Amino acid sequence: MGRVQSGGIRCQNPPAPPELGHPDPLEAWQAMAQPDLSTTWLGLPLRSPLVVGAAAPLSEDPATLPRLEEEGAAAIVLHSLFEEQLEQEQLNLHHLSLLGSESYGESLTYVPEGSLFHVGSELYLRHLEQARSRLAIPVIASLNGQHPGGWVRYARQLEGAGASAIELNIYTLPTDPNRDSASIEAEVEAIVREVRAEVRLPLAVKLGPYFTNFAAMARRLAAAGADGLTLFNRFYQPDIDIETLEVRSNLLLSTPHDLRLPLRWIALLHGRHGLDLAATSGVHRGTDVVRLLMAGACVTQVVGALLRHGPKRLRGLEEELRLWLCEHGHASARELVGCMSQSRCPTPLDYERVQYMRMLQTFQPATAEGAPGPW
Ligand SMILES: Cc1cc2nc3c(=O)[nH]c(=O)nc-3n(C[C@H](O)[C@H](O)[C@H](O)COP(=O)(O)O)c2cc1C
Repeated sequence: MGRVQSGGIRCQNPPAPPELGHPDPLEAWQAMAQPDLSTTWLGLPLRSPLVVGAAAPLSEDPATLPRLEEEGAAAIVLHSLFEEQLEQEQLNLHHLSLLGSESYGESLTYVPEGSLFHVGSELYLRHLEQARSRLAIPVIASLNGQHPGGWVRYARQLEGAGASAIELNIYTLPTDPNRDSASIEAEVEAIVREVRAEVRLPLAVKLGPYFTNFAAMARRLAAAGADGLTLFNRFYQPDIDIETLEVRSNLLLSTPHDLRLPLRWIALLHGRHGLDLAATSGVHRGTDVVRLLMAGACVTQVVGALLRHGPKRLRGLEEELRLWLCEHGHASARELVGCMSQSRCPTPLDYERVQYMRMLQTFQPATAEGAPGPW
């Protein structure tokens, strides 16, 4: 009792479940008081760790937002306002002022396609104001970019429109062979500093895992003013159509397997640098939420599961989480947070290379019949 074993890692101080004496989970469920799901993220008190992640199909329609709240969303991160979109708007204003001058036609060639973006920044701000006035739960605005620059000033407007916090998504795909990793990391840090200088709002930084040393990056981002990290961006990779010889970009929704990467890094970072950690990628079941809380996330963001099954899936996730807590004798979700993080392990290196070697050496090949296909 009181010790959890998982994949060879034994952690100290996991929550100790009391004697249940209830082999039937339903009976246990009825016998116990409802566990407390409340948590805090970025200083915001939340009713549960179930946050709706950023995605236009979930947050763009004003009618969907109250539906998500009714189904139990603890907070909603709105879809992103993109650097390209904001820079384009600034450029368009500049063009208007130069209308008739020679530089107008030339600079138009630098403007990305306007149709890429669903709404302009004015509409986004109105949408945010409306959401804040209609919903009781926190509404988090999302800014999405990859370079320092004038677009970060919109953070202040988001604050003025009532955002409860900002999630800054730095989605970058460096391909220039002449740039070294130090300059890329410095640029990421500079964006965070610039946004921090604009607002006093709580600031979460959402980014991908591809840094030479993500732990060092996390520390730099904390020093630059981030209050939390949202881990990780999913990189949507293009495919090749082998018949038409076209590069296709079809979005594949995540599966629960995708949570392994955030799970590991959240476990490694929990309790270090004073950052609140949010998990995104692969949350489809109540037990996925449990895993990520144990690793050290204070909230889990859900997108793919809601796109597949609709807002009602939030209620299902909440019930699954409650049931798991009841079955395991926990009075609150907070008890779980970080109990399986690296800082609570007596053998912290097990989260690192040792785990990898053990996996390779203990793998059993599937039988031909059991294998799902030729791949
Ligand atoms: C259709 C769609 C639109 C998305 N739009 C955004 C966005 O505007 N900003 C953002 O930061 N992430 C966006 N994402 C990424 C999600 O917020 C989330 O990080 C990702 O889907 C992984 O979570 P999941 O496994 O629950 O789907 C989008 C994802 C999807 C599927």
